[in-house]
Amino acid sequence: MTKEVQRRVILGTGGTIAGRSNRQSDNVGYVAGEVRVEDLMAGIPALSNMSLEVEQLDQIDSKDMGFGVWQRLAERIAHHLAREDVAGVVVTHGTDTLEETAYFLEKVLRPVKPVVLTCAMRPSTALVPDGPQNLLDAVNAAGCVDLSGVVVVCAGLVHRAEHVAKVHSYRVDAFDSGDAGPVACVEEGEVRWFHPPQRALAHPSSDTALLKQVLKAGALPRVDIVTSHADADGGMVRALLAAGMVNAAHLPRGLVVAATGNGTVHRALEAALHEAQRCGVRVVRATRCARGRVIPDAANPLRDSAGLSPVKARLALALELLSE
Ligand code: SIN
Repeated sequence: MTKEVQRRVILGTGGTIAGRSNRQSDNVGYVAGEVRVEDLMAGIPALSNMSLEVEQLDQIDSKDMGFGVWQRLAERIAHHLAREDVAGVVVTHGTDTLEETAYFLEKVLRPVKPVVLTCAMRPSTALVPDGPQNLLDAVNAAGCVDLSGVVVVCAGLVHRAEHVAKVHSYRVDAFDSGDAGPVACVEEGEVRWFHPPQRALAHPSSDTALLKQVLKAGALPRVDIVTSHADADGGMVRALLAAGMVNAAHLPRGLVVAATGNGTVHRALEAALHEAQRCGVRVVRATRCARGRVIPDAANPLRDSAGLSPVKARLALALELLSE
């Protein structure tokens, strides 16, 4: 596999990869987002002779991720990718909302060069931290000329933003790409493809319109997620509609229902969602199943999420509303 010897930029946002614990044996009682990217890199000798630039963009636990950080990430990544001397960008990030950030960046930037998000399940102070290998793999992946778009590199595997999801709360191989599977792995610094690489084409200029809208927006349009479950009665949806009556700013512009199975919804919740739709709230059905998708059904008045998980469907709908 050919590798381009070019500069890569590493943007730090925090997470367990930058976590610190008082005890080496403690893989859970740590504080995320404590160690600077430069300090993480200092422990990886293989990075020392590479052409790298570093920016500490933030230092947070990714459970607290939000639009403000995404705006800054999108702006900095777009800036660096536009540089001829930059081959790709790496983002260090917490695992908990990694798939949301990856999907957001893919939708907003549609990058031709690689944008590689990486993470760790164990803090940097652990007896055997997984962050250093993940970071090294991510930097190598970001220099791969065949790699394109936003991917997640974790535990030696390369996952596409659209498919990746965190599926385990503790194991170091916490990510999965569902039925699609990972696209490649990183072995000894080389990307080995499981499927022929698909290099994204330079995006038409209209695609940069979404980035411009994101950068000037004060917030994403409000889209909430509700879940269909036994005894679901639509009370959450009606509470949101009632809050919107008191203050229009509190009315969600969209709702994603994490539906059962192939997009089925408890009849009481479904009635409330139809009410919401009549009030102008856009409603999307995703499945709460870990695998599979909602099969399109033109007869269902609640549209499906086109294969996206509930958290990604929330972002897709918010970006759709923003771009109108
Ligand atoms: C986080 O998401 O920032 C904390 C958890 C992790 O990175 O594994």
